[in-house]
Amino acid sequence: MRWINVLPGVLVTFALLLPAPAAAKTELYSALGEEAGISRLMETFLLEIAADERIVEHFIDTDIERLHRLLTEQICELVGGPCVYSGEDMVTVHTGMGISHAEFNALVENLMTAMDAEGIPVGAQNQLLALLAEMHPEVVKL
Ligand code: HEM
Repeated sequence: MRWINVLPGVLVTFALLLPAPAAAKTELYSALGEEAGISRLMETFLLEIAADERIVEHFIDTDIERLHRLLTEQICELVGGPCVYSGEDMVTVHTGMGISHAEFNALVENLMTAMDAEGIPVGAQNQLLALLAEMHPEVVKL
C-alpha cells in the first residue's frame, strides 16, 4: 500500500485526536471555576499547607503572596486557561529542597482537601491530580 492511500486516513485520525485534549482541558478550566476559582482554590490550598506540620517547614521563608500568584498562573495555564506562568521551571525551583515522596503526597492530600472544600467535582479533581502527578519526577528528591 502506498502512503498516498493511507494519508487521508491519517489526517482524519489526527483531526479526531488533536482537538480532544484541548477541549478536555478547557472543560477542566471551567470546572475549576476559571481564573477566579483557581485563585480561591490556591488560597485554600496554601492555608491547608500552612496548617500541615509535615511540610510547612519548607515554606518558612517563602513569600506566600508571590507563591499564590505563581500557583494560580501555573494551574490556570496547565488546565488550558488563558494565563501565562511567569515563574521558574519545576526542577530549578525544587532542586536542593530534598522533598520526599511522603512530603509530595502530603501536599497532594492538602490539595484534595482544598478541592473538596471548594466543591470541585470529583472528575475535575482527578484530572488535575493526574496532571500534577506528571510533575512528581521534577519535584521529588532533587
Ligand atoms: C506537583 C507538585 C508541585 C507543584 C506544581 C509546585 C509548584 C510550585 C511553584 C509554581 C512554585 C513557585 C515557583 C517560583 O518561585 O518561580 C513553587 C515553589 C515552591 N515549592 Fe513547589 N510545587 C509542587 C510540589 C512541592 C512540594 C511537595 C513541596 C514541599 C513539600 C514544595 C515546596 C515549594 C517551596 C518551599 C517553594 C517556594 C520556594 C521559594 O520560597 O522561593 N513544592 N512550587
